[in-house]
Amino acid sequence: MHMIGRAALAVRRLFPALVLVLALSGGFVFAQAQQEQFTPQTEDPETFPEGDGRDDTFYTCSACHAFKLVASQGFSRERWDETIDLMVDRHGMAKPEAKDREIILNYLAKAFPPKASPRGFQNPFLKQ
Ligand code: HEC
Repeated sequence: MHMIGRAALAVRRLFPALVLVLALSGGFVFAQAQQEQFTPQTEDPETFPEGDGRDDTFYTCSACHAFKLVASQGFSRERWDETIDLMVDRHGMAKPEAKDREIILNYLAKAFPPKASPRGFQNPFLKQ
């Protein structure tokens, strides 16, 4: 038999083993990815924009959900004010004292303002 023919035969014989190795390593990578996915994410106030009241706001709001849920929003001061009411009225957040509410609201409004769009603020209710 020619050398090439022999090599081809060897590859053909090895093929199932190769598939098995690939499948196993694939499974290993998958298992690793799963493991990473289930590692609880720890949040730290340091990772969010600096500002007065950051820690108060972080610990108040992250008692129930990830602070990322808050930080991913961009609202006007009025919308943040309403959001605090919503958390109290609908989700059972402890009503903050006026002084604390002011601190939290100041931080939220300053750190997470409405997201800038290329043409400036767009009022979604105004059709242009
Ligand atoms: C007592 C529990 C609790 C506290 C404290 C709390 N929230 Fe929430 N919040 C919820 C629940 C429940 C939801 C809706 C379920 C979800 O998405 O996890 C939610 C959702 C949100 C959302 C998403 C709203 C939407 O429409 O998707 C925002 C923004 C938010 N909260 C902001 C805040 C801010 C800001 C604070 C701190 C001032 C805060 N939350 C504190 C319970 C709470």
